[in-house]
Amino acid sequence: MKKIIIAIDGFSSCGKSTMAKDLAREIGYIYIDSGAMYRAVTLYCMEHGLFNADGSIREKDLQDQMDDIHISFRLDADSQRPQTYLNDVCVEDRIRSLEVSSHVSPVAALGFVRQALVRQQQAMGKEKGIVMDGRDIGTAVFLDAELKIFVTASAEIRARRRYDELKAKGQEASFEDILHNVEERDRIDQTREVSPLRKADDAILLDNSLMSIAEQKEWLKEQFEKAI
Ligand code: C5P
Repeated sequence: MKKIIIAIDGFSSCGKSTMAKDLAREIGYIYIDSGAMYRAVTLYCMEHGLFNADGSIREKDLQDQMDDIHISFRLDADSQRPQTYLNDVCVEDRIRSLEVSSHVSPVAALGFVRQALVRQQQAMGKEKGIVMDGRDIGTAVFLDAELKIFVTASAEIRARRRYDELKAKGQEASFEDILHNVEERDRIDQTREVSPLRKADDAILLDNSLMSIAEQKEWLKEQFEKAI
């Protein structure tokens, strides 16, 4: 059967990953969480002293070290869920912390970081049969993707979902901090110079504020069936 590229973009914490992951599993496609790659670079910066005390990034040092940052995905043997590895160490839980969330958008706004990660993402999609989610997948990474979706939901609903997710993992979190983080990331992602977050002209818009996970899954499967 013909294989296609599915690009799912949208705002922070709007459930893109859940629906993308579910669809990929069901149709036997590879799933790539491009946000995890920006998060892994951010964790690397935190662990290697590449943030100044005021939160700014030591850009020159990061640029010099980009070749030392190796990101990969491996399936967890038990859960069969993809786990993010940074230089061969599993960082899946650490990259989801609020601290990483608070630092990631400025890192993702750097042109040389985007260039390096977009190149890797395009290589991952060379054989098609891939579902990738992020902010610029339909507008920069895969301009020719056969199916493009742009997901949104109100900031409060997105923050609530992220809050519930962190709580379920036993991580301490304040709803107000998360809401502020979600809004701040949206602002930086939409206003950055390189590949700002926006809906591709040929993307299908989905506002999932009032949809259950099962409804979103069904909706996405229908779009996939129409696209192939
Ligand atoms: O998707 P997630 O929320 O994990 O992404 C974390 C951050 O990485 C986003 O807020 C955004 O700044 C950045 N990102 C990006 N381009 C992508 C994916 C994520 O700039 N394709």
